[in-house]
Amino acid sequence: MLNRAMALTPVESLNEVEAEAELARLAAEMAAHDAAYAEAAPTVSDADYDAMKARNLAIETRFPALVRSDSPSLKVGAPVSTQFTEVRHGVPMLSLDNAFEAADVTDFVARIRRFLNLPADEVVAFTAEPKIDGLSANLRYEDGVLVQGATRGDGRAGEDITANLKTIADIPHRLNGKGWPARIEVRGEVYAPNDAFAAFNAEAEAAGRRTYANPRNFAAGSLRQIDPTVTAARPLRFFAYAWGETSEPFAETQAGALEAFEAWGFPVNPRSVRVEGSDGLIDVYRGLETDRAGLGYDIDGVVYKVDRLDWQTRLGFVSRSPRWAIAHKFPAQQATTVLEGIDIQVGRTGSLTPVARLAPVTVGGVVVRNATLHNEDEIARKDVRIGDTVVLQRAGDVIPQIVSVVLDKRPADALPYVFPTHCPVCGSEAVREGDDVRRRCTGGLICSAQLIERLKHFVSRRAFDIEGLGEKQLSAFHDRGWIHEPADIFRLARDADKLDALRAEDGYGETSVRNLVAGIDARRVISLERLIFGLGIRDIGDQTSLLLARHFGDWASFHAAAMEAASGIPSPEWTQLAEGHGVSPRTLSVMAAATLSPADPWPEAPIDQKLALAFPGIAAPARRALGPLAVDWAGIVELARIAREDGPSMTLGEIAGIAGVGPVAARAVADFFHEPHNQAVVAALLAELTTVQDAERPKSDTAVTGKTVVFTGALERFTRDEAKARAESLGAKVSGSVSKKTDYLVAGPGAGSKLADAQKHGVAVLTEDEWLALIGG
Ligand code: IVH
Repeated sequence: MLNRAMALTPVESLNEVEAEAELARLAAEMAAHDAAYAEAAPTVSDADYDAMKARNLAIETRFPALVRSDSPSLKVGAPVSTQFTEVRHGVPMLSLDNAFEAADVTDFVARIRRFLNLPADEVVAFTAEPKIDGLSANLRYEDGVLVQGATRGDGRAGEDITANLKTIADIPHRLNGKGWPARIEVRGEVYAPNDAFAAFNAEAEAAGRRTYANPRNFAAGSLRQIDPTVTAARPLRFFAYAWGETSEPFAETQAGALEAFEAWGFPVNPRSVRVEGSDGLIDVYRGLETDRAGLGYDIDGVVYKVDRLDWQTRLGFVSRSPRWAIAHKFPAQQATTVLEGIDIQVGRTGSLTPVARLAPVTVGGVVVRNATLHNEDEIARKDVRIGDTVVLQRAGDVIPQIVSVVLDKRPADALPYVFPTHCPVCGSEAVREGDDVRRRCTGGLICSAQLIERLKHFVSRRAFDIEGLGEKQLSAFHDRGWIHEPADIFRLARDADKLDALRAEDGYGETSVRNLVAGIDARRVISLERLIFGLGIRDIGDQTSLLLARHFGDWASFHAAAMEAASGIPSPEWTQLAEGHGVSPRTLSVMAAATLSPADPWPEAPIDQKLALAFPGIAAPARRALGPLAVDWAGIVELARIAREDGPSMTLGEIAGIAGVGPVAARAVADFFHEPHNQAVVAALLAELTTVQDAERPKSDTAVTGKTVVFTGALERFTRDEAKARAESLGAKVSGSVSKKTDYLVAGPGAGSKLADAQKHGVAVLTEDEWLALIGG
């Protein structure tokens, strides 16, 4: 991912078609990263994510008409998960614009001065506060008592994690002093100090329990525990820095608000200061950058906020972030170390991933021993060699990245790295297919690495989430020959002999055995989306699984559709015809409908005419494309057969057509179920399960079912995502542009060209409130 930007077409060179495709790609990719982030398992570094966000915005700025309703630029934060109850924030929790360079900061100050129309001698004061790299929380106090605590979620609504937040000693259950508003939402950051985080991980690793990649993931994972006693045992801290709804004003300045928080019993970051002008801000930034590694907790920048609250009110908001604040980000933290070796990991789909083994080095307070090298091409592009001194970068990332090689320090005998052509685990050939950047082991079933990875995936948190069954146990059980496929896990739980062997030979205590069995048995009841995700189908992540589950509703329907799609995988000839030669679906359907005699009825006619007669109504360019393929009448008959029999099943199209799924994922489902071995694995697994819980299907009898809706303008009652999700759950189709097929345009303030389009096409235009009334609030 890191250097993908290098291979990307510059935004200025994109044409409209490319831009549209690129925006679609970015929306999908960033949505996947958001989902992973929400689960506290980020799949991308902050720096890469920011780069994608910036690219998305740059393309949208050039092609404003192409802004998608699911554009990442319209989102505030991570989507809300369903595990906890949703709570609506009294006032939305916004995000901040970023500044990266000093010039961005002077621009920020100049913008504020201009907006407020300040005279030259009027000084603007700010607070400069460390930007804590944790998780923001909203704490609702009524009459001084903490009544509710929530995550930020998507900014408008988060998750109710009151019980967990109450376990954090820094968070007062009752406000101290006096002068607090009768109702107030205090906001701030939950974080984990670096040393406590490291101690936790060391202990977890020794005990074979789950470790976390960085303090932020650790804080996020700790807050999302179902059992608050687990959270209570985690070393979490809190700093207050903002507020949401309040029944009355309680300060006149941001600095005054921070003082009030402190008086009420909240920790306020001791490095938060009040300064004047952009020079003052940059001084604080430099100071914090110098002291950063010694603070004891991760910060990723400095937040500047206009101090006077009356000015903040006047400045207001631009889309999702305040005009009165900005986050000045630190560059990624770097260090150099020696690359001692390159290990090849084999993933569950057989992909070979190179991982750098490094001489341990501290980067930004965290000891790093490994870094991803992504794939074969990346190693070649950077010409990374074993023995090289490399520059490492950690930007709050899961896995640090290798930025570059220090060529001056390259040992004379270092050779270019040769990527293995065989699987390091099973020895099968490893090949690259098509434009896949990954080399994959072809060992399939015989490759134990793939097998273990698939089982690990199966028991993982977002799949079957089996307590007490981690990599260590899976490998041990696999080595004993007990577990080869998911069903074996469930068989183990009812196999008295094997459980006895665990007690006798593996030193399992009675409680451990009981817990293991209980952990497995608990998952004989599983939700449809977890089951689909757990199968480990290539390209089917948890979000796609959810979409599939919601679309099909129950296992029988999903399974029937998947099998039907599998039986209708297009033949290579058909794919060549449709994709290679670009024969349109309409032409293919004309061809499929033709009834042709095996003998040529028009032996004298040239091929073009034969085609015109055989397939009446197809266009001249299509005939020109088909002519050289058909050659003669027999060829025409064969093409008609291919069009009729070899095309994809309707079901494959149905799956591909589910919003958010698409052709690649649909094909992956079909391919998976096409494989007899996979069918057997699925059948064996289903035999072990007692219930597959149905997914909630979108309602099909609402006022907007089947209607096409477009949202435009600044929506005030909900975010775009929320509006879209809600509309879709009611059976409406949400589109990005207005046409005569549109049924409703829901227009917020500032609606522009779409409003004009709607008037032109006579489309009903609704305000947000009218829309809400239509869908029943
Ligand atoms: S103020 C409208 N102050 O940064 C302003 N945020 O990108 C709301 N953060 O979601 C935020 N330290 O998680 C603010 N001193 C600070 C902060 C801070 C960390 C985080 C917070 C927020 C994100 C915004």
